[in-house]
Amino acid sequence: MTDLTEALRSSFVGVFMRDNPDLFPAMEMAHFVGLSILMGAMIVIDLRILGALTNVSYRASFKLIPVAIAGFLINLISGVAFICTNPALYLTNWAFWLKMGLVVLGGLNALWFTFAEHGKLSALPDDARAPAVARFMAFASLLFWVLVLLLGRLLPTFASVAGG
Ligand code: HEM
Repeated sequence: MTDLTEALRSSFVGVFMRDNPDLFPAMEMAHFVGLSILMGAMIVIDLRILGALTNVSYRASFKLIPVAIAGFLINLISGVAFICTNPALYLTNWAFWLKMGLVVLGGLNALWFTFAEHGKLSALPDDARAPAVARFMAFASLLFWVLVLLLGRLLPTFASVAGG
Protein backbone atom coordinates (compact mmCIF):
# COMPACT_ATOMS: atom_id res chain seq x y z
CA MET A 1 0.00 0.00 0.00
CA THR A 2 2.86 2.38 0.77
CA ASP A 3 4.27 1.85 -2.75
CA LEU A 4 0.90 2.75 -4.26
CA THR A 5 0.58 5.72 -1.91
CA GLU A 6 4.06 6.95 -2.84
CA ALA A 7 3.49 6.34 -6.58
CA LEU A 8 0.25 8.39 -6.54
CA ARG A 9 1.78 11.09 -4.29
CA SER A 10 4.88 11.58 -6.47
CA SER A 11 2.88 11.37 -9.73
CA PHE A 12 2.74 14.41 -12.04
CA VAL A 13 -0.91 15.00 -10.97
CA GLY A 14 -0.04 14.78 -7.26
CA VAL A 15 2.90 17.19 -7.49
CA PHE A 16 0.94 19.59 -9.74
CA MET A 17 -2.09 19.62 -7.39
CA ARG A 18 0.08 20.30 -4.31
CA ASP A 19 2.07 23.02 -6.16
CA ASN A 20 -1.24 24.72 -7.08
CA PRO A 21 -3.38 24.52 -3.91
CA ASP A 22 -6.23 26.57 -5.46
CA LEU A 23 -6.87 23.61 -7.78
CA PHE A 24 -8.25 21.44 -4.96
CA PRO A 25 -11.36 23.60 -4.33
CA ALA A 26 -11.71 23.96 -8.12
CA MET A 27 -11.73 20.13 -8.36
CA GLU A 28 -14.31 19.99 -5.54
CA MET A 29 -16.53 22.34 -7.58
CA ALA A 30 -15.99 20.16 -10.67
CA HIS A 31 -16.88 17.06 -8.58
CA PHE A 32 -20.18 18.65 -7.54
CA VAL A 33 -21.03 19.65 -11.11
CA GLY A 34 -20.14 16.13 -12.29
CA LEU A 35 -22.27 14.37 -9.67
CA SER A 36 -25.20 16.74 -10.29
CA ILE A 37 -25.07 16.03 -14.04
CA LEU A 38 -24.67 12.26 -13.50
CA MET A 39 -27.42 12.02 -10.86
CA GLY A 40 -29.81 14.26 -12.83
CA ALA A 41 -29.49 12.13 -15.98
CA MET A 42 -29.59 8.78 -14.11
CA ILE A 43 -32.72 9.75 -12.12
CA VAL A 44 -34.65 10.51 -15.37
CA ILE A 45 -33.42 7.38 -17.20
CA ASP A 46 -33.93 4.99 -14.25
CA LEU A 47 -37.33 6.38 -13.21
CA ARG A 48 -38.51 6.06 -16.84
CA ILE A 49 -37.45 2.39 -16.91
CA LEU A 50 -39.16 1.87 -13.52
CA GLY A 51 -42.42 3.10 -15.03
CA ALA A 52 -42.55 6.73 -13.84
CA LEU A 53 -42.31 9.82 -16.10
CA THR A 54 -44.45 8.02 -18.75
CA ASN A 55 -44.93 11.31 -20.63
CA VAL A 56 -41.24 10.98 -21.57
CA SER A 57 -40.51 8.26 -24.17
CA TYR A 58 -37.84 5.59 -23.47
CA ARG A 59 -35.83 6.88 -26.47
CA ALA A 60 -36.05 10.52 -25.30
CA SER A 61 -34.79 9.57 -21.81
CA PHE A 62 -31.91 7.58 -23.33
CA LYS A 63 -30.71 10.79 -25.05
CA LEU A 64 -29.38 11.68 -21.56
CA ILE A 65 -26.89 8.75 -21.57
CA PRO A 66 -24.00 10.86 -23.04
CA VAL A 67 -24.77 13.49 -20.37
CA ALA A 68 -24.45 10.85 -17.62
CA ILE A 69 -21.15 9.65 -19.13
CA ALA A 70 -19.85 13.25 -19.20
CA GLY A 71 -20.76 13.69 -15.50
CA PHE A 72 -19.04 10.41 -14.60
CA LEU A 73 -15.85 11.39 -16.49
CA ILE A 74 -15.73 14.78 -14.71
CA ASN A 75 -15.93 12.89 -11.37
CA LEU A 76 -13.35 10.34 -12.39
CA ILE A 77 -10.83 13.07 -13.35
CA SER A 78 -11.51 15.28 -10.29
CA GLY A 79 -11.62 12.21 -8.03
CA VAL A 80 -8.19 11.00 -9.22
CA ALA A 81 -6.86 14.54 -8.67
CA PHE A 82 -8.14 14.43 -5.05
CA ILE A 83 -6.48 11.06 -4.45
CA CYS A 84 -3.09 12.01 -5.92
CA THR A 85 -3.00 15.21 -3.81
CA ASN A 86 -3.00 13.25 -0.53
CA PRO A 87 -3.39 9.51 -1.18
CA ALA A 88 -2.74 8.46 2.44
CA LEU A 89 -5.94 10.29 3.46
CA TYR A 90 -8.09 8.08 1.21
CA LEU A 91 -6.26 4.74 0.76
CA THR A 92 -6.48 4.14 4.55
CA ASN A 93 -10.17 5.04 4.60
CA TRP A 94 -12.65 2.06 4.35
CA ALA A 95 -15.43 4.42 3.21
CA PHE A 96 -13.29 5.34 0.20
CA TRP A 97 -12.84 1.67 -0.78
CA LEU A 98 -16.55 0.99 -0.29
CA LYS A 99 -17.31 4.02 -2.50
CA MET A 100 -14.89 2.80 -5.20
CA GLY A 101 -16.51 -0.67 -5.05
CA LEU A 102 -19.93 0.90 -5.62
CA VAL A 103 -18.56 3.06 -8.48
CA VAL A 104 -17.33 -0.18 -10.15
CA LEU A 105 -20.73 -1.88 -9.54
CA GLY A 106 -22.52 1.19 -10.93
CA GLY A 107 -20.23 1.09 -13.97
CA LEU A 108 -20.76 -2.65 -14.58
CA ASN A 109 -24.52 -2.17 -14.23
CA ALA A 110 -24.37 0.62 -16.83
CA LEU A 111 -22.37 -1.64 -19.21
CA TRP A 112 -24.94 -4.42 -18.72
CA PHE A 113 -27.70 -1.94 -19.60
CA THR A 114 -25.80 -0.69 -22.67
CA PHE A 115 -25.07 -4.12 -24.17
CA ALA A 116 -28.07 -6.16 -22.98
CA GLU A 117 -31.09 -3.92 -22.39
CA HIS A 118 -30.72 -0.61 -24.26
CA GLY A 119 -31.67 -2.01 -27.70
CA LYS A 120 -34.69 -3.96 -26.37
CA LEU A 121 -36.02 -0.98 -24.38
CA SER A 122 -35.55 1.43 -27.31
CA ALA A 123 -37.76 -0.85 -29.43
CA LEU A 124 -40.54 -0.94 -26.81
CA PRO A 125 -43.75 1.08 -27.44
CA ASP A 126 -43.91 3.92 -24.89
CA ASP A 127 -46.98 2.53 -23.11
CA ALA A 128 -45.29 -0.87 -22.60
CA ARG A 129 -43.86 -1.79 -19.17
CA ALA A 130 -40.10 -2.47 -19.12
CA PRO A 131 -39.10 -6.13 -18.49
CA ALA A 132 -38.44 -7.08 -14.84
CA VAL A 133 -34.68 -7.47 -15.41
CA ALA A 134 -34.47 -3.90 -16.77
CA ARG A 135 -36.49 -2.56 -13.81
CA PHE A 136 -34.18 -4.44 -11.39
CA MET A 137 -31.16 -2.90 -13.14
CA ALA A 138 -32.69 0.60 -12.96
CA PHE A 139 -33.40 0.20 -9.23
CA ALA A 140 -29.85 -1.09 -8.64
CA SER A 141 -28.46 1.87 -10.60
CA LEU A 142 -30.31 4.42 -8.46
CA LEU A 143 -29.23 2.59 -5.28
CA PHE A 144 -25.53 2.42 -6.30
CA TRP A 145 -25.19 6.10 -7.33
CA VAL A 146 -27.08 7.43 -4.28
CA LEU A 147 -24.79 5.34 -2.01
CA VAL A 148 -21.72 6.63 -3.92
CA LEU A 149 -22.94 10.20 -3.36
CA LEU A 150 -23.60 9.65 0.37
CA LEU A 151 -20.26 7.89 0.92
CA GLY A 152 -18.50 10.69 -1.00
CA ARG A 153 -19.97 13.29 1.33
CA LEU A 154 -18.95 11.23 4.36
CA LEU A 155 -15.39 10.59 3.13
CA PRO A 156 -13.77 13.53 5.01
CA THR A 157 -15.73 12.50 8.15
CA PHE A 158 -14.56 8.87 7.98
CA ALA A 159 -11.01 10.06 7.14
CA SER A 160 -10.83 11.88 10.52
CA VAL A 161 -12.25 8.77 12.28
CA ALA A 162 -9.57 6.63 10.54
CA GLY A 163 -6.95 9.08 11.93
CA GLY A 164 -6.26 10.66 8.45
C1 HEM B 1 -15.57 8.06 -10.53
C2 HEM B 1 -14.73 8.01 -9.58
C3 HEM B 1 -14.71 8.87 -8.32
C4 HEM B 1 -13.64 9.06 -7.50
C5 HEM B 1 -12.24 8.51 -7.73
C6 HEM B 1 -14.06 9.90 -6.39
C7 HEM B 1 -13.24 10.31 -5.35
C8 HEM B 1 -13.61 11.20 -4.37
C9 HEM B 1 -12.73 11.68 -3.31
C10 HEM B 1 -11.29 11.27 -3.12
C11 HEM B 1 -13.44 12.56 -2.55
C12 HEM B 1 -12.98 13.32 -1.26
C13 HEM B 1 -12.62 14.73 -1.61
C14 HEM B 1 -12.32 15.53 -0.34
O1 HEM B 1 -11.47 15.09 0.44
O2 HEM B 1 -12.91 16.61 -0.18
C15 HEM B 1 -14.75 12.62 -3.10
C16 HEM B 1 -15.73 13.40 -2.57
C17 HEM B 1 -17.02 13.30 -3.00
N1 HEM B 1 -17.50 12.53 -4.02
FE1 HEM B 1 -16.44 11.39 -5.29
N2 HEM B 1 -15.39 10.20 -6.52
C18 HEM B 1 -15.82 9.59 -7.69
C19 HEM B 1 -17.08 9.60 -8.18
C20 HEM B 1 -18.12 10.19 -7.50
C21 HEM B 1 -19.50 10.09 -7.94
C22 HEM B 1 -19.95 9.32 -9.18
C23 HEM B 1 -20.26 10.79 -7.03
C24 HEM B 1 -21.75 11.00 -6.97
C25 HEM B 1 -22.64 10.33 -7.61
C26 HEM B 1 -19.34 11.34 -6.03
C27 HEM B 1 -19.73 12.10 -4.96
C28 HEM B 1 -18.86 12.71 -4.07
C29 HEM B 1 -19.26 13.66 -3.02
C30 HEM B 1 -20.69 14.13 -2.72
C31 HEM B 1 -18.10 14.04 -2.37
C32 HEM B 1 -17.99 15.02 -1.16
C33 HEM B 1 -17.44 16.33 -1.63
C34 HEM B 1 -17.28 17.26 -0.43
O3 HEM B 1 -18.18 17.37 0.33
O4 HEM B 1 -16.24 17.88 -0.35
N3 HEM B 1 -18.05 10.95 -6.36
N4 HEM B 1 -14.83 11.79 -4.21
